[in-house]
Amino acid sequence: MISIQNVSKWFGKFKAVDNINIEVEKGEIFGLLGLNGAGKTTTQRMVSTVFQPSEGDITVNGFDSKINSSEVRRNIGFLPTEVGLYDRLTSREVIRYFGILNDIDYNQIDDKINDVLNRLSLNEYADKRCGKLSRGNKQKVAIARAIIHEPPVFIFDEPTSGLDVISARAVLDFVKQCKEDGRTILYSSHSMYETEEICDKIAIIHDGRILMTDSIKHIQKEYGSLEKAFITTVKGEKSWE
Ligand SMILES: Nc1ncnc2c1ncn2[C@@H]1O[C@H](COP(=O)(O)OP(=O)(O)OP(=O)(O)O)[C@@H](O)[C@H]1O
Ligand SMILES: [Mg+2]
Repeated sequence: MISIQNVSKWFGKFKAVDNINIEVEKGEIFGLLGLNGAGKTTTQRMVSTVFQPSEGDITVNGFDSKINSSEVRRNIGFLPTEVGLYDRLTSREVIRYFGILNDIDYNQIDDKINDVLNRLSLNEYADKRCGKLSRGNKQKVAIARAIIHEPPVFIFDEPTSGLDVISARAVLDFVKQCKEDGRTILYSSHSMYETEEICDKIAIIHDGRILMTDSIKHIQKEYGSLEKAFITTVKGEKSWE
């Protein structure tokens, strides 16, 4: 469903992503793990067509990100790390606005908004202004906005970062539900525990390079835990302090 082939990204003379290869199958949750600055967000932005790879190819649901970037965008919902909502608009208005931007049929839009509000337990906040919402509810609105066009692929960049335990749980349960609905998810997180819980496979990325790609099940068998695998793999590499 997502294919990243020999992809590199240069920012001037700095190589942020160095010849990575990732295959994410339909219905999988694939986690990107790495220290700050490893290249996770850069990778997710390339898949989301925010910018193009300097080298290599990315396809999403069979569409090439260079040749068919608008089709790729139709096939993905991207939740960036830094979420900017319009404080003066209500949750419903923000979601509606993004629905319209994504060409959702006017006759269907209200039903779709109600459905997503329901799934994210946002009903009671639907008509509150975003500026007045808690961090957790703002994040839920950001998720709703990212997926209102019901794409088959979700790209979530640290969706639980900064959330309290209850809000984080709601987001994680929602991501798991999305997998059950058959979505494919490219996920990044700094939490070993949540990655272990929700991901099928992971890649450990460090200084732009992939050091390991494996299934969670196999990693747990080999190393005991994801944290042990991560530390063993990354320790001793450049940029490890
Ligand atoms: N637009 C940009 N211009 C120049 N350098 C950039 C740009 N975006 C990212 N970088 C650099 O690329 C490297 C990878 O950054 P990236 O944001 O992908 O890391 P990350 O793994 O998402 O880290 P974090 O865990 O902190 O979110 C970093 O060294 C970063 O400073
Ligand atoms: Mg990042």
